[in-house]
Amino acid sequence: PPTGSPTGNRDQAFWGSCADSNTLNIAANAAILRSDFGQVTPENSMKWDALESSRGNFNFAGADTLVNWAVSNGKLIRGHTLVWHSQLPGWVNNINDRNTLTSVIQNHISVVAGRYAGRLYGTFHVSAFGITINFTLFTAWDVVNEIFNEDGSLRSSVFSRVLGESFVTIAFQAARAADPTSVLYINDYNLDSNNAKVQGMVNLVRRVNANSQIIDALGTQMHLSAGGAGGAQAALTALASLGLEVAITELDIVGASANDYTTVLRACLNTPLCVGITSWGVADVNSWRASSNPLLFDNNYRAKAAYTALINAL
Ligand code: XIL
Repeated sequence: PPTGSPTGNRDQAFWGSCADSNTLNIAANAAILRSDFGQVTPENSMKWDALESSRGNFNFAGADTLVNWAVSNGKLIRGHTLVWHSQLPGWVNNINDRNTLTSVIQNHISVVAGRYAGRLYGTFHVSAFGITINFTLFTAWDVVNEIFNEDGSLRSSVFSRVLGESFVTIAFQAARAADPTSVLYINDYNLDSNNAKVQGMVNLVRRVNANSQIIDALGTQMHLSAGGAGGAQAALTALASLGLEVAITELDIVGASANDYTTVLRACLNTPLCVGITSWGVADVNSWRASSNPLLFDNNYRAKAAYTALINAL
């Protein structure tokens, strides 16, 4: 496995970051990704509008750039994201019949997840037993993203309006068929304490998985504000209550103190089913919340106090 990851006590993929060609092209940024992070998540390049802006016409240029960078640099990938109401092209938003939308979802997922499925990260030979273990590049896919309202009910979107809750099962089954080895996630934001939205997600996963495991794992984005990490442990404990894997998938903390970051790290480490944390970027200057200093490296790519505190917390 590659070296790196500030928290390599579990495995090298424990701490990841989002990336894409715009940030990979900044040498100082790429150097930090190489030395300090074990996995990458495409920030925008695998969203529906980037990949299939008109029906059946796929453009993988940006996505492949990220994938090829990960292969060359020995990083794993969390796929993000297959079904999301945002960054969704208008032609999908305008579909109003069940059969069309079902086959559009199935085709999109089959083409996108299928493209990278089974792509190898590495192999491990056990010569004494004559066996080879293959590790695949994609550890996970965020299959559905942000499908809940704050009260835990299903958000109104083209998917829920046309298909009701069934779009969730349709999407996960298509993802399983396309990529049988990735861990399939349901992902959302404001799952930062044991609140109604957390309960809504847990209840939906329990319903969908009643007869067989359709959804493998629950992701909490954790776009936090200073002082807002206090509920992280309760959130992770509640999300993990079904016995499925959980992860923090898009961590950033507006105006964070070092203590906010260590609180989040400890919450994950204290949750046996929490497999890792992904920062939503490396340096403040490139963050989608750039003006608020939310990340572990500053505008000049220097490690901040929060970074040092994380290392010391281990
Ligand atoms: C954000 C990206 O960081 C921005 O570059 C883009 O303009 C908008 O999307 N929840 C998600 C992520 O699941 O995909 C979003 O990423 C942030 C909120």
